[in-house]
Amino acid sequence: MFDRIAGGYDRMNSVMTAGMHHRWRARAADLARVGPGDRVLDVATGTGDLAVELERRVGPGGEVVGTDFSETMLELARRKAPGIRFEPGNALELPYADGEFTAATVGFGARNFSDLPRGLSEMARVTRPGGRVVVLEITTPQRPPLSVFFSMWFDRVVPAMGRLAGSPDAYEYLPSSVRRFPGPHELAGELAGAGLEHVTYVLTAGGIIAIHAGTVPARP
Ligand SMILES: C[S@@+](CC[C@H](N)C(=O)[O-])C[C@H]1O[C@@H](n2cnc3c(N)ncnc32)[C@H](O)[C@@H]1O
Repeated sequence: MFDRIAGGYDRMNSVMTAGMHHRWRARAADLARVGPGDRVLDVATGTGDLAVELERRVGPGGEVVGTDFSETMLELARRKAPGIRFEPGNALELPYADGEFTAATVGFGARNFSDLPRGLSEMARVTRPGGRVVVLEITTPQRPPLSVFFSMWFDRVVPAMGRLAGSPDAYEYLPSSVRRFPGPHELAGELAGAGLEHVTYVLTAGGIIAIHAGTVPARP
């Protein structure tokens, strides 16, 4: 499915979020707390927009690696950001050693993991002690008026846009995957369950976007 929607993915993001997704990615990259010289992994990187945000923070002395299981998404990411290493990989079995990265991020990808605890544990495993794991996701707002707007937008407008874009199934899958995904409080529990400490989250865009972060504890 992700291979199929890759060509129109960036355009749909900009239309669906009125361009605000770049701001949310910048906030997630800030919460990774990386700086010049760091090595960062962006999991389920897609067309690489979050990886690009991270690259700005690690500078020429650092390195960002973006990984995804959709080769079509990766190809678009490589064209967008030739300075970033984009390579194939399954988030549930990351092809990296323990503690290889200063931080690991995932943007709008965790919702698609068929095994969320495993995906989060993998991100924690490849991050060095003291490093951060950051999860940027869409979440379901609980209170009106945003809950009413969200329901209309995601259940009606987004699937209609998907039909126009020629990918009806993918953009029907999007709202259903958001509804299935744990709410912010539960997701914080999942990060803690993956062994992360000091788990916090911020809600933005009126409670439609959640950014969770936790720290990898010192190894015994
Ligand atoms: C909605 S896109 C998000 C892409 C990008 N991170 C962004 O912020 O726009 C979800 C991405 O997750 C990838 N993905 C889903 N499950 C995955 C897995 N188990 N391993 C690797 N990539 C996965 C898909 O191929 C797709 O590119």
